[in-house]
Amino acid sequence: MSHKGEAYPASEAFLLDNPRRRQNYPPSELIGELNISPDNVVMDFGCGPGYYTIEIAKKAKTTFAVDISPEMLEKAKDKAAKNEVSNIEFLQSDGKHVQLSDASVDLILLVTVYHEVGENDVVLAEFSRILKPSGRLVIVEVIKKDIFQGAPVQNPEKLQTEIEASSFKLEQMQPYKNYGILFFKKAVGTHKRSL
Ligand SMILES: C[S@@+](CC[C@H](N)C(=O)[O-])C[C@H]1O[C@@H](n2cnc3c(N)ncnc32)[C@H](O)[C@@H]1O
Repeated sequence: MSHKGEAYPASEAFLLDNPRRRQNYPPSELIGELNISPDNVVMDFGCGPGYYTIEIAKKAKTTFAVDISPEMLEKAKDKAAKNEVSNIEFLQSDGKHVQLSDASVDLILLVTVYHEVGENDVVLAEFSRILKPSGRLVIVEVIKKDIFQGAPVQNPEKLQTEIEASSFKLEQMQPYKNYGILFFKKAVGTHKRSL
């Protein structure tokens, strides 16, 4: 199911956190691939009910859990409280902007979110603003037909072309089960100056 340009319905949050996904895609496994350091500030953009957020917070200094849906953020807050994780800040975005300072984040992660984002170029410019110069943007999408409902298959080369057109450079594309993990850095010297 595609939800491009719309918030994923919170009524379908059970599709994102259930025993089958936990068995097949344990959140600690994917997060373990990201080399998060204890001093890192990480943004989980499109955090949904917090499936990955809790695992990120166990490794990072601060985690910003960002979503367009207030209901999803409530679910993520409940999960953080149940797991007694306190280094997460929850932010509702308007879908395009995030209330964070320039160059303040080490890693921005989107797991099965990028395909839902309506105005990708605007959002990528916002990511470029928020990321530190050495920061990483990590896009995870389903690239092989998946058993899970709600995650349409994406073409990784098309994703690369689109994201590289917005001041990022692909460093590595790593397959992980049916997902592709695309690691981007900010491209040097390609930032647009305002007139
Ligand atoms: C398919 S869910 C993935 C949730 C989580 N990343 C996971 O893998 O379990 C997509 C989430 O992205 C959020 N979302 C979609 N477009 C967004 C946008 N432009 N800004 C912020 N959140 C967005 C939806 O509300 C939803 O919670």
